[in-house]
Amino acid sequence: MIGLTLFFGLLAIVHYAVAEQVPLRPTQKQPNIVFVLTDDQDLHMDSLSYMPLLKKHIADEGLSFKRHYCTVALCCPSRVSLWTGKAAHNTNVTDVNPPYGGYPKFISQGLNDAYLPLWLQDAGYNTYYVGKLFNAQTVDNYNKPAAAGWTGSEFLLDPYTYEYLNATFTRNGETPISYEGQYSTDLVAEKSFAFLDDALADQKPFFLTIAPTAPHSNVHIGSNIIDGNFSENTNVQSPPIPAERHKHLFKDVKVPRTKHFNPDEPHGVSWIGRLPRQNHTNVKDNDQFYRSRLRALQAVDEIVEELVCRLDKAGVSEETYFFFSTDNGYHIGQHRLQPGKQCAFEEDINIPFMVRGPGIPKGQTTDTVSSHTDLAPTFLKLAGGKLRDDFDGAVMPLAGVQLERDASKNEHVNVESWGIIMSEGKHGAVLYPNHTYKALRVIGDGYNYLYTVWCSGEHELYDLLTDPYETHNLIPQKHPSNNIENPSHPIYQSEVVPPGLIIQTHTDNLFEQVPRSIHHILTRLDALLMVLKTCKVSACTHPWEVLHPKGDVTNLKEALHPDFDDFYEVQQQRVKFDKCEKGYILESEGPVDVRPYLEGIGG
Ligand SMILES: *[C@@H]1O[C@H](CO)[C@@H](O)[C@H](O)[C@H]1NC(C)=O
Ligand SMILES: *[C@@H]1O[C@H](CO)[C@@H](O)[C@H](O)[C@H]1NC(C)=O
Ligand SMILES: *[C@@H]1O[C@H](CO)[C@@H](O)[C@H](O)[C@H]1NC(C)=O
Ligand SMILES: *[C@@H]1O[C@H](CO)[C@@H](O)[C@H](O)[C@H]1NC(C)=O
Ligand SMILES: *[C@@H]1O[C@H](CO)[C@@H](O)[C@H](O)[C@H]1NC(C)=O
Repeated sequence: MIGLTLFFGLLAIVHYAVAEQVPLRPTQKQPNIVFVLTDDQDLHMDSLSYMPLLKKHIADEGLSFKRHYCTVALCCPSRVSLWTGKAAHNTNVTDVNPPYGGYPKFISQGLNDAYLPLWLQDAGYNTYYVGKLFNAQTVDNYNKPAAAGWTGSEFLLDPYTYEYLNATFTRNGETPISYEGQYSTDLVAEKSFAFLDDALADQKPFFLTIAPTAPHSNVHIGSNIIDGNFSENTNVQSPPIPAERHKHLFKDVKVPRTKHFNPDEPHGVSWIGRLPRQNHTNVKDNDQFYRSRLRALQAVDEIVEELVCRLDKAGVSEETYFFFSTDNGYHIGQHRLQPGKQCAFEEDINIPFMVRGPGIPKGQTTDTVSSHTDLAPTFLKLAGGKLRDDFDGAVMPLAGVQLERDASKNEHVNVESWGIIMSEGKHGAVLYPNHTYKALRVIGDGYNYLYTVWCSGEHELYDLLTDPYETHNLIPQKHPSNNIENPSHPIYQSEVVPPGLIIQTHTDNLFEQVPRSIHHILTRLDALLMVLKTCKVSACTHPWEVLHPKGDVTNLKEALHPDFDDFYEVQQQRVKFDKCEKGYILESEGPVDVRPYLEGIGG
């Protein structure tokens, strides 16, 4: 079909002006949007296989994105990026609690006046939200001020957000009500269906988000005054609690025993490399934790089915988009890690994302690379709203798998993280400080990399084509300080040619095959990361254009041309930190500038 246009980064306004004239969908009415957003749900430990109703009603009836990413693998920063369309380094909401994150930081950054529900209301929508919005939205601060932009809202409030059996909600900003003893996800369901009834009774199109806590662990928050000291003793966390009717399920199910599950040999940067191999008791407890997650997801699966039924019954399914995703991923035992998130490994960042609705192909998957910063632009575009000129994300190509890897925003995801990495589970509850990092995923034809620079100075580079479980760091760990600025670093002597990366150059109409080594790739990725770590707007969606303003390089493969070796290897600074901080302190984050390439190829 026509109307497949939707890559719409801001630079792309020019490039795609023609495409922009094609309407997204033929009907006149603005579509409704329903969005189910879970908490900490993995893609890589197979959680979707245990949600048959989600498969039946959404995956089989819609499009699943295999390469959708969060840009911070932590609830609050990820959600703020999702609702604002901005990278965390531009929201500066980088943690779950003040001073660097949480609801108070969302407010103090002015974002309560500049996020999606307000823009959807401007576009003529009724907007509804049920469940967890942000961390540190509490029984004390929920109305100081209230979260703006919702026609109807029922927010879960701290310190009860993660208590499956003692939820507290504020309805439309009113005095919080405790539901002690009732099941949180079922309350979310009931409240969502009530708002759906309100929405269906009104003429306006609607946007309804359902954000249950599942499958996040159950947390009893002891104190919500946590000023970055977040102590191991303030919170008591335990496995998520399923509904009574689901407690008996999945008795024999275990965390998938992939190659990187509790491996014999440690790997990863130093703090991960020091993790002990988990003993039998530990593994058994973590399997139990895993089963609790799957059981807790069953009540969410039921919500999906009930919503679809109600939309069908109301006769609006053909004019409603139904999205399903989560805020960040999760790991249990991979790389020997205790249950948790926040790393840049695939388990934590590559997350479920699917959609059904008008014009969306049924039962298909796509390789398109996308991220949570693309969601606000995508929702707003579907709603016919005016795209803002400060979005760091781009509209996703929902209407056609044939748009895979569109050249306008093609292959990269920038992942960032600040402060402490937490671990959960019976053997977790450990806090790892000083784990600020910048990471980059680049996925294109013939290549697939994760590159990470830690504030400690450590570097990681994984080639996921040959090492899909990210167990072999291509940057030698043992070299003094792992400092890739040092020209004697062994990486520069590497002869390894990654498969798929033999570059065709052509001079005088002759094709020549030029093998490229790891250090050629590393220097390009580092420069790309340098652009992304402070990018705004089009530099985030089209980072290669910052390095190559002439527009003749749009992906890693093109940047690997030997003519650019000196430019990348000698002329650029390297990404590094001067200091480990708990938040986004620009002065500690090292160089920020890149040099643009101003000559022509061969010049
Ligand atoms: C449940 O929450 C209420 C406040 O909303 C609190 O007073 C009560 O102590 C809590 N109960 C448990 C068992 O934690
Ligand atoms: C957090 O730690 C800092 C530095 O150790 C200390 O000054 C401050 O009082 C602590 N805050 C709390 C709430 O414990
Ligand atoms: C297994 O590991 C846990 C967590 O490290 C530890 O507390 C426990 O004592 C260990 N059990 C055995 C039998 O070694
Ligand atoms: C964390 O990093 C800071 C600054 O880089 C340093 O002063 C501190 O000792 C580090 N803390 C730990 C526990 O490594
Ligand atoms: C981000 O917020 C923190 C805490 O308020 C502040 O110290 C820091 O300077 C801010 N960073 C930037 C780049 O504005």
